[in-house]
Amino acid sequence: MGTVRSRMTGIGSYVPPRVVTNDDLTQWLDTSDEWIVQRTGIRERRWVEGTTSTSDLALEASKQALESAGMVAGDLDMIFLATLSPDHFFPGSAVFLQTKLGISGIPAIDVRQQCTGFIYAISIADQYIRTGAAQRILVVGAEVHSKGLDKSTRGRDVTVLFGDGAGGVILEATDVTDPAVDSYIMSTHLYADGAYAEELWVPGVSTAYDEEIVDPRMIDRGDQYPKMNGRQVFVHAVKHMPEAVETALAQNGYTIDDVDLFVFHQANLRINEAAAQRLGVPGDKVFNTIERFANTTAATIPIGLHEAIKAGRLERGMLVASAAFGSGFTWGSALFRW
Ligand SMILES: CC(C)(COP(=O)(O)OP(=O)(O)OC[C@H]1O[C@@H](n2cnc3c(N)ncnc32)[C@H](O)[C@@H]1OP(=O)(O)O)[C@@H](O)C(=O)NCCC(=O)NCCS
Repeated sequence: MGTVRSRMTGIGSYVPPRVVTNDDLTQWLDTSDEWIVQRTGIRERRWVEGTTSTSDLALEASKQALESAGMVAGDLDMIFLATLSPDHFFPGSAVFLQTKLGISGIPAIDVRQQCTGFIYAISIADQYIRTGAAQRILVVGAEVHSKGLDKSTRGRDVTVLFGDGAGGVILEATDVTDPAVDSYIMSTHLYADGAYAEELWVPGVSTAYDEEIVDPRMIDRGDQYPKMNGRQVFVHAVKHMPEAVETALAQNGYTIDDVDLFVFHQANLRINEAAAQRLGVPGDKVFNTIERFANTTAATIPIGLHEAIKAGRLERGMLVASAAFGSGFTWGSALFRW
C-alpha cells in the first residue's frame, strides 16, 4: 500500500482555427512584426470567431482530455476551470462547461488566478485527491482574449501579447509505491502579492468606483481593456518563476539536472530565456509555444504539455517542472513525473 497522490492520466488542448499574424495586427494598430518578434518571440496567435466562448474552447480540450484518459464526463467527481476571460460576469464558466459536457450535480469551480490559474487549479484539485475527497478531476485552463483587447494603437503594448486557446488534464488518484519512478504530482507551490494588482489588470467592469458596474465613463476611459506595466511584470517574472522551481526541487530532493523538461508559462520568450539562464537550464530542456500561440494565460501550460507530447519531447516517466507568473501578481510551480 503506497500513498495516494494525483496522476495526470489524460490531456487535451484546442486552439481556434483563425490564425492572426503580427502583420495582420498592423491593420488595426501601429506595430510591426519586427518589434513583436524582437521583444516577445511571438509570430502569430489564434483568435476565435463568432459566438465562440471560453467554455466552448474548454469543452474541446476537455473532450480530448477525457478521451485520452479513457473516461467519459460522467466519470468525473469535480471540474475546475481556470480563466480570466469568463463567458459571463457570473455565474462562473465552469458551470457552462459542465452543461456542455452533458453532466450535472458535481462541483464546478472557477479559478481566477490569471496566468498562474492552471497551477493554482491543479494545486487545489491535488489537495482533494490527496485527502481522498475526489478520485477523478477535470482541470482546464481556457481563454478568449481576443474579444477583450484594445485593438487600437492605445492598447498595442498588451494586445500583441495575447491569444485564445484551451488546455486541460484529468487528474486521477493513484497509489504511489515508488516515488522515484511513479507518475504523479509531487508538489505545487503557490504565491501571491496583491500590492502589485494594478500593474497588470482590467480596471473595469468594476464595483470599485462610484459608477455603475458598466458605465459610459468607464468605456470612454477604456477601462474595459487590460492595462500593464510591462517592465514590472518582466522583472518580477524573471525573479519569481526560477525561485518557485528551485523551491519545488529542494522540497522533493531533486536538482535542476534531474528535470527532463521545463514547461514555463509563455508570456514572453525573453522572460523564459532569462528564467532558464538564472536556473542554469540548457535551452533544449525548455519547451516553448509562444511563437505560435502567444500568451494564452490559464491555458498556456496544458497547451504546452500537450504540444510537447505531440512533438515527441514529453514521454511518460519524464520529470517535468512547470512555473507561471502573472496578474495579481500571482506565481507558482508544479513538479511532477509525467
Ligand atoms: C511589453 C514588453 C514586450 C515591452 O517591451 P519593452 O522593451 O519594455 O518596451 P517598452 O515598454 O520600453 O516600449 C518601447 C517602445 O515601444 C513602443 N511599443 C509598445 N508596444 C508596441 C507595439 N506593440 N509595437 C510597436 N511599438 C510598441 C512603446 O510605446 C515604446 O515607445 P517609446 O519608446 O516611443 O515610448 C515587455 O515589457 C514585456 O514583455 N513585459 C512582460 C509582459 C508580460 O509578460 N505580460 C503578461 C504577463 S502574464
